[in-house]
Amino acid sequence: MKAKVLVIGANGQLGSVLVKELQHHYGLDNVVASDIRKGHHFKGKFEELDATDREQLTEVVLRYGITQIYHLAAILSAKGEADPLATWDLNMKMLFNVLEVARIHGVDKVFFPSSIAVFGEDAPWVNTPNKAYLNPATVYGMSKAAGEQWAQYYFLRYGLDVRSLRYPGIIGYQSLPGGGTTDYAVDIFHKAVLEEEFVCFLNEDTTLPMIFMEDAIRATLELMEAPKEDIKIRTAYNLAGSSFSPEDIVKEIRKFYPEFKIRYEPDFRQDIAARWPKSINDIEATMDWGWKPQYSLETIVRIMIDKLREQYVAQQ
Ligand code: SER
Repeated sequence: MKAKVLVIGANGQLGSVLVKELQHHYGLDNVVASDIRKGHHFKGKFEELDATDREQLTEVVLRYGITQIYHLAAILSAKGEADPLATWDLNMKMLFNVLEVARIHGVDKVFFPSSIAVFGEDAPWVNTPNKAYLNPATVYGMSKAAGEQWAQYYFLRYGLDVRSLRYPGIIGYQSLPGGGTTDYAVDIFHKAVLEEEFVCFLNEDTTLPMIFMEDAIRATLELMEAPKEDIKIRTAYNLAGSSFSPEDIVKEIRKFYPEFKIRYEPDFRQDIAARWPKSINDIEATMDWGWKPQYSLETIVRIMIDKLREQYVAQQ
């Protein structure tokens, strides 16, 4: 049977890029992009969908005969702290709706993104293993850690094929992140190319796991395409790209913009980042479905600067 794919949260940093890739992969007519707001302009099918509304979600799934759901909508780590209870409600409600609708209506596969935010201070900070203890300190991280358990529960109890990755911070030129602690690592490039000073909300030496958008998209598709029996971890897979700090990025940016200026004004997001791993061990992803990242910091910086320069020139 041909796949019919629904993407929830299609306007987001990852969604807006993933939709295009899925359209390319499955055909324009077989992908339904959806988001709570219209916003982004997609070539193919688009639905304005509030995933907290189970009836609406059911209607879309049935109308298109959806066989795969990529559920990308969530409130991220930094924004989530402004209203903890509302963040928990929203993130969990959407996930429960997706899992229930998928179970009831026989959806073949569900993708649920998890995050490095599931880890807290009791996990080893360096080369953090997949099975490390999870004691997240943000509501977003709590919703992802709980979500992973629910994903596994639906697999064990109902046989629903839910798959998940713990994404590091995602860096891409195609879209902007919103409300996350790793957002600085995208914003910094925009400022560099615009030749403006960047005010960084993290300390210069805060190393975090990051991944280039191309790697993140490829990991997602590789995980989702892998044979079912190869997926041994039903909570979520650790996923590594490359780890670096603001000062590491600055060093690379200055190869292109020697005058680039940065000012460090750490805020509450520094406390969030301080409890996250510095690097990730993703051996299980490598062993089970062959994951291997391709982009180093040096390459990421070169591509980000090239592409953003092109974008800003085209806008003039
Ligand atoms: N990039 C996310 C955030 O910063 C982590 O999953 O919240």
